[in-house]
Amino acid sequence: MRDPDVVRVALAGLRAPRKTLPPSLFYDAEGCRLFYRITELPEYYLTRTERALLATIGPAVADLVGPDAVLAEYGASTEDKAAFLLATQGAFQAYIPIDVAAAELAQLRARMAQSHPAITVAPRVADFMYPIVLPPIPADAPVLGFFPGSTIGNLEPEAAIAFLSRARTTLGAGARFLLGADLRKSPLELLPAYDDAAGVTAAFNRNLLVRLNREAEATFDPMAFRHEARWNDDESRIEMHLVSLHDQTVAIAGETLHFAEGETIHTENSYKHTQDRLLTLARQAGWTLERQWTAPGQRFGHFLLNQR
Ligand code: AVJ
Repeated sequence: MRDPDVVRVALAGLRAPRKTLPPSLFYDAEGCRLFYRITELPEYYLTRTERALLATIGPAVADLVGPDAVLAEYGASTEDKAAFLLATQGAFQAYIPIDVAAAELAQLRARMAQSHPAITVAPRVADFMYPIVLPPIPADAPVLGFFPGSTIGNLEPEAAIAFLSRARTTLGAGARFLLGADLRKSPLELLPAYDDAAGVTAAFNRNLLVRLNREAEATFDPMAFRHEARWNDDESRIEMHLVSLHDQTVAIAGETLHFAEGETIHTENSYKHTQDRLLTLARQAGWTLERQWTAPGQRFGHFLLNQR
């Protein structure tokens, strides 16, 4: 079925001289499934590194923030990371998962009713790149924004600052924010994480085109595009591209677009900031560092921010 939002977003990116598609389009049902498989790949160290870190710091974060706090998670298609914080009895009274994946949020809520019956769950289906209205929060409840998974890396630095300052407004003056981000490291380790031997990341990338065929009446041959991961050292980011294998035309919702041989659709940036750079971005958005924790070898960081 044709989705006018998907058509609009896709055409806006693909009409530009340098073609792009936004990473939020990755996460249809199949994209969520493929991303989950990515998190289990041997090359994709991010998720297991972050989970090990969260398992050790969860109780400390809960003690600093609680009791009876409200946890608002940005980009939460599952509760598996929040669970490390919610596990501390009495620390949190409510959980607000915010994500574009509506079906995944409904499943999350059903699971939480079983696993955490004492915690109120109020999902919000929203793209966190736009202003979000939270459900009413008890006036005296501490609030913790939570943005794990290094999703901040999808944002251009200016957009990351804008996001972090919007989150400050959304969450309120006394709120804290726990930011989890992958850190700059050797491209020898980064590149395989975004171009795995089993081809799961390639399928995840090409699934964008499958989605546009279904939801934007597009005529892509997904196999006529090659997955490419690039390290951009100047910008300190991994880029994902879909490279056109030959000269081709594709229709999207009735509009014809041309792809030259070798031309790319830039589908994702994953910035790998240093700790200093991340904290500079947070400061520019009005946040102050309260505590930080890093995985062994500085491979991944969690930064607890406040507004003091
Ligand atoms: C979910 C945005 C953190 O950038 O590592 C995984 C998405 N893209 N493999 C990332 C992703 C390719 C992921 N984030």
